Amino acid sequence: MASITLFLLFAVLSANQVSAQKNDSNIINLGSYLSPKTNSTSWVSPSGHFSFGFYPQDNGLAVGIRLMDEHEGTTVWTPNLNNLSASSDSVIQLTKDGQLLLRNEKQMEVAIANASEPAASASILDSGNFVLYSKNHSVIWQSFDYPTDTILGGQNLSEGQHLTSANGYFILQMQADGNLVAYLVKNETGENYGYWSSATYQSQAIQLTLDRTGFLCLLDDDENATKVLANSSNYLERNTSLIYRATMDFDGIFRLYVHTFETNTTSFNVQSVWQSNSNQCEVRGFCGFNSYCSMNDSEAICKCYPGFKPINGNQSMFLDCEQGHTDDCKTSADPKILWDIAPLQHVQWGLLPFLVISLEMEACGKSCQEDCNCGAALHEDGSCKMYKLPLRFGRINHDVSTTALFKLPPNPKKPEVLVDDKKNLIFTLAITLGSISFVSLVFAISIFFIYRHKVYSYTKLSATSENLGFAEDCLRTFAFDELVNSTGNFTEEIGRGSFGVVYKGTLQGNNRRVAVKKLDNDAVDEGEREF
Ligand SMILES: *[C@@H]1O[C@H](CO)[C@@H](O)[C@H](O)[C@H]1NC(C)=O
Ligand SMILES: *[C@@H]1O[C@H](CO)[C@@H](O)[C@H](O)[C@H]1NC(C)=O
Ligand SMILES: *[C@@H]1O[C@H](CO)[C@@H](O)[C@H](O)[C@H]1NC(C)=O
Ligand SMILES: *[C@@H]1O[C@H](CO)[C@@H](O)[C@H](O)[C@H]1NC(C)=O
Ligand SMILES: *[C@@H]1O[C@H](CO)[C@@H](O)[C@H](O)[C@H]1NC(C)=O
Ligand SMILES: *[C@@H]1O[C@H](CO)[C@@H](O)[C@H](O)[C@H]1NC(C)=O
Ligand SMILES: *[C@@H]1O[C@H](CO)[C@@H](O)[C@H](O)[C@H]1NC(C)=O
Ligand SMILES: *[C@@H]1O[C@H](CO)[C@@H](O)[C@H](O)[C@H]1NC(C)=O
Ligand SMILES: *[C@@H]1O[C@H](CO)[C@@H](O)[C@H](O)[C@H]1NC(C)=O
Ligand SMILES: *[C@@H]1O[C@H](CO)[C@@H](O)[C@H](O)[C@H]1NC(C)=O
Ligand SMILES: *[C@@H]1O[C@H](CO)[C@@H](O)[C@H](O)[C@H]1NC(C)=O
Ligand SMILES: *[C@@H]1O[C@H](CO)[C@@H](O)[C@H](O)[C@H]1NC(C)=O
Repeated sequence: MASITLFLLFAVLSANQVSAQKNDSNIINLGSYLSPKTNSTSWVSPSGHFSFGFYPQDNGLAVGIRLMDEHEGTTVWTPNLNNLSASSDSVIQLTKDGQLLLRNEKQMEVAIANASEPAASASILDSGNFVLYSKNHSVIWQSFDYPTDTILGGQNLSEGQHLTSANGYFILQMQADGNLVAYLVKNETGENYGYWSSATYQSQAIQLTLDRTGFLCLLDDDENATKVLANSSNYLERNTSLIYRATMDFDGIFRLYVHTFETNTTSFNVQSVWQSNSNQCEVRGFCGFNSYCSMNDSEAICKCYPGFKPINGNQSMFLDCEQGHTDDCKTSADPKILWDIAPLQHVQWGLLPFLVISLEMEACGKSCQEDCNCGAALHEDGSCKMYKLPLRFGRINHDVSTTALFKLPPNPKKPEVLVDDKKNLIFTLAITLGSISFVSLVFAISIFFIYRHKVYSYTKLSATSENLGFAEDCLRTFAFDELVNSTGNFTEEIGRGSFGVVYKGTLQGNNRRVAVKKLDNDAVDEGEREF
């Protein structure tokens, strides 16, 4: 059904295009109207490249100006309709008393243009500008004065004006201080989430301008170009008509495009000739909460941090993630035991940490484990930065040698450790786990045989009831003082294990020589178990 509607609209648009091309004085007179019901959906510019009116969108209809091509076309302007939505019953009318209105079936209406005086006629120009004329044919209103996400050749972005990406997330603002800046839409916290600027001052720039040859620059008071963003003059070719547009795209990058229409053919092409940021991951807000941006070949994708899972689907942009486990940190007596630490290399974060201290990597992870406020830590050159959740504006940047440390629940069934150089990690893990298993196996087998042997000897000894002064000693417990005496206060070290030092000693009474292992205080639990 939707595709049928789409097809019908295009059929109509093409028909309009032909008639418009034949008649170059396409003045729209008072009383003219557009109505999808009667198959009149738009007014078309003389060249046929731009149309003003209804166009299909999301199974419904929208109102705006379109740059038309063989495909679905590109929207270059939309009016503020104060929440009134267009439908197949809607009508756009240039009324007899000179108002341009959108009217719905229920007689609800909204002004599409608010000129200071009633219009006498209107026109959609080849530049893509929709204009209202007064009686003496001077322009009293033009769509070029109310840019939405795009400026076209011949259009400016003046001081105080901005472009907003179609999804409403990103803004390109021509500031009063002369700087042209791109930022993620601020919420009430009002933090600065900028990620690109022209780095110009007020004396240097008062407006952004795009001319019809694709020259995109900042102009000063004297209309001199003080900063050239793009000069597309080498794209000029004969026998093609070129249309330039600069758009704040849905992914937060401001791009200049050229559309080429070859004369007398339907051949059409669009390409990007300049963009504000070459690295998509620089755009703040491209990835959402607790996700980070990483380049996969030339494509940027968002991924959840280790220990986090997606909450708005597995999308590649605007991905939000949440902790994959319950956080009972604040109710736990010893938060440290709740977590293991997982590393991620080359992470760069845009927000400020709540704490910066000098610590080595291991201690950095440990402090974060112990601090319930710490969502993750970033270690670099002996400095440990701690961040609260949600983590924002994170990306992989191979130019930085940081290690981000994340808290994971201990002993996960499948290790969720995600490291950028995964192969290395898997290799290391495999070797480590392999060695551990092998050693454990050997250990278990030895224990089995030793134990069997001991039980056997002991039974033999008991059976013969021959007291060799051994069985008694074997099961004796010693007081600490006795051990101090027998080792001469732990003087002669004969070995060193992972959790303590082994000393030589002599048992008083029978002068039997023994080895005594003294456990480190720090590792008592582990040590006892190992011992
Ligand atoms: C073009 O259209 C206008 C009204 O829309 C009409 O007055 C004029 O005669 C037309 N010109 C030609 C050449 O068809
Ligand atoms: C609109 O176009 C369709 C298909 O071309 C046709 O069936 C219909 O009658 C037309 N409606 C009007 C009001 O012209
Ligand atoms: C339009 O809708 C939004 C949210 O749905 C609301 O906040 C806003 O006040 C509405 N504007 C008008 C003019 O009704
Ligand atoms: C018309 O004016 C009103 C109030 O002055 C403003 O809110 C609205 O955005 C304007 N519309 C256009 C299309 O300029
Ligand atoms: C056209 O009319 C407007 C007011 O409607 C006036 O300001 C302007 O000077 C007039 N232009 C000409 C060329 O007469
Ligand atoms: C854009 O700015 C230039 C230079 O200031 C000016 O000549 C031109 O009229 C402006 N265009 C529009 C549509 O206002
Ligand atoms: C505003 O931003 C802060 C910090 O990024 C976030 O915690 C808060 O939820 C946001 N508020 C809204 C309404 O999005
Ligand atoms: C602007 O350009 C004009 C000539 O195009 C020149 O006379 C003037 O000095 C320039 N202004 C500045 C501030 O460079
Ligand atoms: C754009 O570049 C061409 C050379 O590629 C140069 O001739 C031209 O002057 C430049 N335009 C401006 C406005 O600087
Ligand atoms: C433009 O088109 C004409 C006719 O098709 C052809 O003769 C001419 O060589 C073309 N010029 C260029 C620069 O391609
Ligand atoms: C395009 O076609 C028109 C008529 O169909 C013809 O007059 C014109 O010369 C053609 N232009 C080129 C560049 O071929
Ligand atoms: C990275 O890109 C390749 C193809 O270029 C694709 O097969 C792979 O799934 C992508 N990885 C992710 C995580 O999206």
